[in-house]
Amino acid sequence: MARRKTTRALRKLYEKQTPLTMVTCYDYTFARLVDKADIDIILVGDSMGNVIQGHDTTVPVTLEDIIYHTRAVLRGNQSAHILADMPFMSYQASTDDALRNAGRLLKEGHAQSVKVEGGEELATMIARMTAAGIPVCGHLGLTPQSVHAFGGFRLQGTDDEAAERLLKDARALQDAGAFMIVLEMVPAALAKRVTNALDIPTIGIGAGPHTSGQVLVLQDMLGMNSDFKPRFVKHFASLENTVVGALNAFADEVHQRSFPDDEHSY
Ligand code: KIV
Repeated sequence: MARRKTTRALRKLYEKQTPLTMVTCYDYTFARLVDKADIDIILVGDSMGNVIQGHDTTVPVTLEDIIYHTRAVLRGNQSAHILADMPFMSYQASTDDALRNAGRLLKEGHAQSVKVEGGEELATMIARMTAAGIPVCGHLGLTPQSVHAFGGFRLQGTDDEAAERLLKDARALQDAGAFMIVLEMVPAALAKRVTNALDIPTIGIGAGPHTSGQVLVLQDMLGMNSDFKPRFVKHFASLENTVVGALNAFADEVHQRSFPDDEHSY
């Protein structure tokens, strides 16, 4: 059985300049398939609010949701590093809250690390978590939990001031002890600058090719919703067609009474 990747193993890949591969995953069945592929990190992301729960934003996702799904993922996957998202308001109100909630993701969800959205303002909190033995991944650029403050999902760091702020935030997260940073929806040139300025890995989503690794939402990259195709998403499969085709084949055979046949009956 393959050994689950630790932060140390991820660090070694980064030092060898091997691009890190990360996908989101929320359930046992997909976690099992991810285990058969060359994926370094599973993010049990609060994007479950969109792709699993059908909300417009990640804001409604709870800590209990993340714990439940992290446990399910863990049962299906033995090899990937398991990174759990800290959902909206599980860390913003106080550092004590944040520490306790991050602890629950490790103790109850059995995650190996946690991810938080935000910059310099999280430095003290990240330092405390790190000191308590909780590996923390930062998340900069488009941080979906702040969608209402941003007024929509759009490219970040597009002017000089915003770019400098993002760079400063990235350095602050690294100095606080973050072991990795997700960069979402930022220009490729800025992501490259940030990646070159840090000595921890960056993982890009809509951040161009120069980051230390890439992440995509599993359902997006598998083409499970053909209506959702922002520029940064590549459909590596067309599962929507495959699944709908299979369901219609089943319905046809049921209507024609050709399923179940002798082979599938007792
Ligand atoms: O929750 C999530 O899926 C994420 C990725 C977009 C990085 O945070």
